[in-house]
Amino acid sequence: MKIDVLLGLQWGDEGKGKVVDVLTPAYDIVARFQGGPNAGHTLEFDGKKYVLRSIPSGIFQQGALNLIGGGVVLDPVLFEEEAKALEASGVDITKKLKISKKAHLILPTHRLLDAANEKAKGAGKIGTTGKGIGPTYTDKVSRNGLRLGDLFHDFDTKYAAARNRHLSMLRALGQEPDPEELAKLEERWMQALDYLRQFDIIDNEHFINHQLAEGKKVLCEGAQGTMLDIDFGSYPFVTSSNTITAGACTGLGVAPNKIGDVYGIFKAYCTRVGSGPFPTELFDETGKKIRDIGHEYGAVTGRERRCGWVDLVALKYAIMLNGVTKLIMMKSDVLDTMDEVKACVAYEINGERVDEFPFSVEEETLKPIYVTLPGWKENLSKSTTYDELPERFKEYVAFLEKELGVPIVILSVGPDRKQTIVRE
Ligand code: GDP
Ligand code: IMO
Ligand code: MG
Repeated sequence: MKIDVLLGLQWGDEGKGKVVDVLTPAYDIVARFQGGPNAGHTLEFDGKKYVLRSIPSGIFQQGALNLIGGGVVLDPVLFEEEAKALEASGVDITKKLKISKKAHLILPTHRLLDAANEKAKGAGKIGTTGKGIGPTYTDKVSRNGLRLGDLFHDFDTKYAAARNRHLSMLRALGQEPDPEELAKLEERWMQALDYLRQFDIIDNEHFINHQLAEGKKVLCEGAQGTMLDIDFGSYPFVTSSNTITAGACTGLGVAPNKIGDVYGIFKAYCTRVGSGPFPTELFDETGKKIRDIGHEYGAVTGRERRCGWVDLVALKYAIMLNGVTKLIMMKSDVLDTMDEVKACVAYEINGERVDEFPFSVEEETLKPIYVTLPGWKENLSKSTTYDELPERFKEYVAFLEKELGVPIVILSVGPDRKQTIVRE
């Protein structure tokens, strides 16, 4: 059996949570493979809205097991809050969720370091989510991290060493925390670790490979997006993990030849939160209109998302890096009232046409080259089949498919589970 991967092709918030939930009934296991509570994945059904951060978006569907893989970084306190909210809404979470021993723990001092690093960067700050993601992955790579499995292996000594290291780093940054406040944070963190102990904490690489050998179907859920990938995103304005398909292999312990379909998900336009280059960003009324109609505010932080037209140069790059076999287009309904819709097909850099995503994007010298298509000026959100969609919208879909060279198999026309059109 092969595993399928669903991941974001833009700068995150493409609608991964919604579609993973819709696809889950066809799978036995849904697994997160990277990222942490910097993610905010929104699901809507039966008139209710839920936001997931570390727990996979398969958790609401009956039957499927959910797995937090070893490539994920876990904040016990935020995890407890998230899990308890799910329990309160009737999800039997301890039965449906397994967590990898290899997941790295986000310590209270990692969050303090995240804030201190951002402060030190001043105007060049990344605009992180402040969840301690960068410092936790830094500790992992520098071989100083603490893993969930360490709970059962001399944990107190390892914790004290990590925390003392962090305190000396904070001191060097002039950001030493108040001892009483730190003690409170640590107490709450330790309590949350106790809560975590009741979960099935496993060797996820063995588990998932056994499941595959038994013929079980696995869907991997990405967090963030390709343009935030640590290696291929708009560095240094990126997150600290591999958000691309390769990250599913390292984050779960599955070999590259076990990867099946790769679902690449994108919005009919483009958004970005935090700092960093964004070639098609709109600073005008159209950008504001997209933000208002699309409710483009962070699911977790509430931050305003920057909005712009769809960027096919960046999308083609993402499709190449991920080996996308199927595309999913989200939020076309947000463009319903537009007279015309634009798509960036190339960049002009210093007067020259550039078709491939470049090493660095200097916004002052880059001009997007757009193709303009007529708007469809109809309400898409009530459509349930592809056939009933307006002709002009279908022409837009056909244009994108031709440009991108991959079929668009799912179209989402509203936030609810039901507002999803499957073409296969
Ligand atoms: P994720 O991080 O990729 O899971 O995406 P987010 O949940 O952060 O952001 C997507 C937002 O768009 C959420 O508020 C969703 O409820 C909403 N959404 C998802 N699909 C659609 C759609 O097709 N149309 C509209 N209007 N909203 C959508
Ligand atoms: P989902 O999974 C959008 C952005 C932050 C910042 C950069 C680094 O919901 O799509 P970090 O806290 O990871 O060190 O921040 O990455 N970022 C996201 N943007 N969606 C996300 O997740 C994001 N997770 C991180 O805004 O620019
Ligand atoms: Mg999100």
